[in-house]
Amino acid sequence: MSEELAIHGGPKARTTPFPSVGDSSGRDLGDEEIALLTEVIRSGCLGRHGGKMVPQFEQEYAAHQGVKHCLGVTSGTAALHTAVGALQLDPGDEIITTTVTDMGTVIAILQQNQIPIFCDVDRRTMNLDPTKLEGLINDRTRAIIAVHLFGQAVDMDTLMPLARKHKLYVIEDCAQAHDAEWDGRRVGTIGDLGCFSLQQSKQITTGDGGIVITNDDDLALNARNFHDKFYDRSGENRGVLRLGMNYRMTELQGAVALAQTRKLDSILGRRRHTAELLTSYLSKIEGIIPPWVHPKATHSYWIYPFQIDEAVLGCTVAEFRAAIQAEGLPWGTGYAGGIPICMYPAIREHKAYGDSLFPWEPPYGRYVEYREEDYPETIWAQANTFVMNWNEGITDADVEDMAHGFRKMAEHYRKRR
Ligand SMILES: Cc1ncc(COP(=O)(O)O)c(C=O)c1O
Repeated sequence: MSEELAIHGGPKARTTPFPSVGDSSGRDLGDEEIALLTEVIRSGCLGRHGGKMVPQFEQEYAAHQGVKHCLGVTSGTAALHTAVGALQLDPGDEIITTTVTDMGTVIAILQQNQIPIFCDVDRRTMNLDPTKLEGLINDRTRAIIAVHLFGQAVDMDTLMPLARKHKLYVIEDCAQAHDAEWDGRRVGTIGDLGCFSLQQSKQITTGDGGIVITNDDDLALNARNFHDKFYDRSGENRGVLRLGMNYRMTELQGAVALAQTRKLDSILGRRRHTAELLTSYLSKIEGIIPPWVHPKATHSYWIYPFQIDEAVLGCTVAEFRAAIQAEGLPWGTGYAGGIPICMYPAIREHKAYGDSLFPWEPPYGRYVEYREEDYPETIWAQANTFVMNWNEGITDADVEDMAHGFRKMAEHYRKRR
């Protein structure tokens, strides 16, 4: 006889919480970070200028990624803003990105007074679908921000040639995809600039923090200047050269970022091991569709996503969602509010700056209408994709509990069919 589901009063598949990215249970933070932080405190220099930790972090992170330039900044949003700022585009120029991302991606565009244009996604991965880009490009398009969502790379084989054909810059938003790869190449090293987040839930963290990498000397200099109020630091002492920000990483963030960088391979190894173990179990359960990973992509599992086949499983997404949560398996649907990001009021209603429509108005730019019906794949994927934050604290035993719960549910619903 099959086990009764928790939602019908049966025993839960899991009665204790899983390791979490919100505390030490799911984070690899410890003596290494404390030692470097102590060094910083004892040095008396907490700011980036004059400090040693941020430059050391930048050097080791650049070596880790195999790139020429690395810049530590204060957040993933700051990293993206710095990358867009480094391009020195005109107000009203257009930048294409995806409908499924964090607001940080869009903030970076609007804060530089460029207009965001949104591309629908591939429903299997929720990543921007580069086959849909061509129709969005016009004579004001200057760049694409490719967001490698959940830890999986966008199809860069399709995106890069198209970008080069139209002379567009490519910024890779790798906030969720530390060390993910496309065709053996690390994300962030394929386009012109790569941006990472070190926010609390990311594969490595400083609480908040960010990174910009590039192989382009001119963009690297612009990025460094932009994040440092665009002061001329060349020695010529010409003052402020252009409009910039203060996004300087502190030595305290630098110390933790350095210790975390040294653990990155080990953290990624643990995340991949347990995620792939779960996939091996889920792929044997009829009606559950484990994360689809492109054959050229190596996933870095910020989130573990999956989908279900309602007909095969014999239940609806809503029923399944309620049942797995009752089992103590904290997967939910509706990632990022469950709507395309351009449907957030700030974007849909063009509310960037007071009552004006700027930058969506002449003479700088054009009025752009954002309509839900332009993003059918996004709507489907957000309603049908289950997501849970993954982390390096998850063990094989945790995965066994998850698999047990999924099997129990699948058995129950298949019988009911
Ligand atoms: C895809 C993506 N882009 C940008 C950001 C912004 O990063 P941060 O929160 O560090 O500013 C995030 C963070 O959640 C993200 O997931």
